[in-house]
Amino acid sequence: VAVIADRRTDRLFYRSIASALPRGARLVRVAVQPGESSKTLASAERVLEALARARFDRKGAIVALGGGVVSDLAGFVASIYMRGVPWVAVPTTLLAMVDASIGGKTAVDLPSGKNLAGTFWPPRAVMSDLQMLQTLPRPQFVSGLAEVVKIALAADASLFRELERSTGAIARREPRRILSIIRHAASRKGAIVEADERDTGARMILNLGHTTGHALEAALHYKNILHGEAVAIGLCVACNLSMRRGAMDPADAARVTALLRALGLRTAWPRGLSVSRGLRAVASDKKSVGGHIQFILPTAIGASHRVFVTMDELKRAVRIGDIPDFGK
Ligand SMILES: NC(=O)c1ccc[n+]([C@@H]2O[C@H](COP(=O)([O-])OP(=O)(O)OC[C@H]3O[C@@H](n4cnc5c(N)ncnc54)[C@H](O)[C@@H]3O)[C@@H](O)[C@H]2O)c1
Ligand SMILES: [Zn+2]
Repeated sequence: VAVIADRRTDRLFYRSIASALPRGARLVRVAVQPGESSKTLASAERVLEALARARFDRKGAIVALGGGVVSDLAGFVASIYMRGVPWVAVPTTLLAMVDASIGGKTAVDLPSGKNLAGTFWPPRAVMSDLQMLQTLPRPQFVSGLAEVVKIALAADASLFRELERSTGAIARREPRRILSIIRHAASRKGAIVEADERDTGARMILNLGHTTGHALEAALHYKNILHGEAVAIGLCVACNLSMRRGAMDPADAARVTALLRALGLRTAWPRGLSVSRGLRAVASDKKSVGGHIQFILPTAIGASHRVFVTMDELKRAVRIGDIPDFGK
């Protein structure tokens, strides 16, 4: 069994994983630098080479022990090492438990953009242990909540209501509530993905908030903003756009901003960042087709659809103040 982690998740959890494996299992331990900078072909090569040096073979299995960076990288490695070996995800961040470890998309980044090289290679199992979230810093936890809101807004009104009812319990990380929302969000994502594994139709709704979110992350050089924080702003922009088209009730849009803020997420466009600069990466996004940007818009709480928007329309939607409370 090869346990691939980042240095932090290796230090925190390697021992408990190792002791949970059958006695006599031969273990290979690989740890990469924490952070997005490890999602590269170069670090994939280092991991592959470490496996080869340890004479790891197809009879083995890979355990991805970490957040989304580790599951994307280790899943990618699992898909190409000796033409593919099985892997199991042990997600250690909320984001990975509800999103990154589910659905079988693996990837590394290229200099031209995020997640541009990857495979579809689902893990054999995803094992989430809530205790692992105890050491997760609050910003990382809150960032993961943005993905839960995304899943709820895109496709699960009952999860959305559960979130609205339990913001206090979520902030206190009450295990029973956290377990419930993880289970709920993970199974919803699982169902969407099962219906469209290769991402050609129904699965696209999971991109809600991400066209703007990815552009924001790129504009801020992946610093000063966490993925979920960017997605939260992207969700507000999507609501705004939909509302301006008359496709979403302003009262629903207001519920989205209110929920995000109650969970500790910011809903305002980053101060000092011009709209043009913040959206520059949209045009080069994988989802833009001939000047029209493929965009997922919510139509109500728990419902969304795919549309095409123009850059001007998107820019107008970013203008602050349109959603009640958006911008504070
Ligand atoms: N494949 C997919 O479908 C999919 C979906 C969503 C996101 N992603 C990818 O996920 C990545 C982001 O994942 P992430 O937010 O989990 O980031 P991450 O993996 O970088 O983890 C965030 C930080 O938290 C630390 N950490 C992890 N678990 C911890 C714990 N239990 N206690 C203390 N510290 C801990 C890590 O060392 C790291 O520094 C992005 O690269 C994104 O592209 C993939
Ligand atoms: Zn995301």
